[in-house]
Amino acid sequence: MGWTERQLAMLREIGIRLWVPPADAQPAALDAATATGGQALPKNRARPDPARAGATTRRARETTAAPATPTAVVATHQRVAGVESMDWPVLREAVENCTACRLCEGRRNTVFGVGNEHAHWMIVGEAPGEQEDLQGEPFVGKAGQLLDNMLRAIGLTRENAPPERQVFIANTLKCRPPGNRNPQPDELAQCEPFLIRQVALVQPRIIVAMGRFAVQSLLRSSDPIGRLRGRVHRYHGVPLIVTYHPAYLLRNPVDKARAWEDLCLALDVLAGTAGGGEPSTSA
Ligand code: URA
Repeated sequence: MGWTERQLAMLREIGIRLWVPPADAQPAALDAATATGGQALPKNRARPDPARAGATTRRARETTAAPATPTAVVATHQRVAGVESMDWPVLREAVENCTACRLCEGRRNTVFGVGNEHAHWMIVGEAPGEQEDLQGEPFVGKAGQLLDNMLRAIGLTRENAPPERQVFIANTLKCRPPGNRNPQPDELAQCEPFLIRQVALVQPRIIVAMGRFAVQSLLRSSDPIGRLRGRVHRYHGVPLIVTYHPAYLLRNPVDKARAWEDLCLALDVLAGTAGGGEPSTSA
């Protein structure tokens, strides 16, 4: 079946990938097609054994079968299974190979996160931007410079340091939304298990959620930041402080003072001197 450019663009937009045979299909691949009854294998199907995520992806690529007559096979994006029991290396590989949503199609790099795997502090942002997508590291653009300055102001760093001084920085999304558009609910949902697992592995003593989408994802709340900040929430039992996103602070420097108060509140919580407030949603 032939597809017009417009149809292809629409299918891509709603997250449907089309399988098309490579121009240089090898005879071995054609043999594989025969072995599967001539049925083409979806290029990036779900990995049933997450511990072997990378190997499976490679194998799938190697054995992708090209039918004799070009036909389009629709493969939907599929969630990675078994994330909740992954260790760090397997989790990293699963993120690298993830095709669970449409964002995998435009990314240059996945952005896993950075910092001490046993950090006392975990910072959760929203999604990679252009620089992060290029470099594969969170918060490396202008907002990242502000974040680093904010962290330095309370004695923290993303560079090598003991767990009490080095943060772990992660995002709710591991891939860049095209043109830095807002994350879509289905993208947040598909990516959420990775963040949950990162929190479980780091076991931070405090989480700082920065910005609307981090808060929506972690606290399941669509309340504005202004209403959620200033008190202690909980995420899987871990105290969580809500604050403004550094990119927002660049546009609204008047709120930097409030962000500073939020960091001080987080310091107090760690020092055991904050009242704790009314614990909020625990996801
Ligand atoms: N904004 C975020 O929320 N995360 C990044 O990594 C970069 C910008």
